[in-house]
Amino acid sequence: MLYLALRHSHIGLSGLAMLATLVWVIAAWKNPNPATRRLPTWLRVIYIVNRATVGLAGITGLWLTLIGPWRIFLFPYLGLLGFIVLELAAAFSKRTWLSGSGHHRALLCAQVLCILGISGLMSAKII
Ligand code: HEM
Repeated sequence: MLYLALRHSHIGLSGLAMLATLVWVIAAWKNPNPATRRLPTWLRVIYIVNRATVGLAGITGLWLTLIGPWRIFLFPYLGLLGFIVLELAAAFSKRTWLSGSGHHRALLCAQVLCILGISGLMSAKII
């Protein structure tokens, strides 16, 4: 029962996390105005929603792994690794966005690749 509730939450949250990542990537794609020293409020809200949904998807995924039948598989641990890389890319993309160098775009692309890779891995469940 708890497992099923967690599974539904994890899948729902991961859908929201993918949507929020896409919105963050589109919103942060352009370089900031050179005078900008901090994230504008609207972009900060998008960033926070992104971090919260991705974080909650990761926590529910870890919890599912601990209580469910998947802990002997490799994919949850690869997913955890991808999740850590995704979180680091998100944090650094915010910092480099503020620098205005344009390097943040590589980190934004890394976030999309990570989240698509994680969900592909988890849907396949082959390892
Ligand atoms: C933001 C990161 C994550 C995304 C987008 C994501 C996405 C998904 C998706 C879409 C599924 C459903 C697959 C299906 O049945 O078709 C799933 C299942 C699963 N995920 Fe994640 N996941 C994430 C993070 C994690 C983490 C960090 C872990 C473990 C440490 C994890 C563990 C699991 C497990 C064990 C299942 C199988 C649940 C079941 O079918 O009963 N997930 N994930």
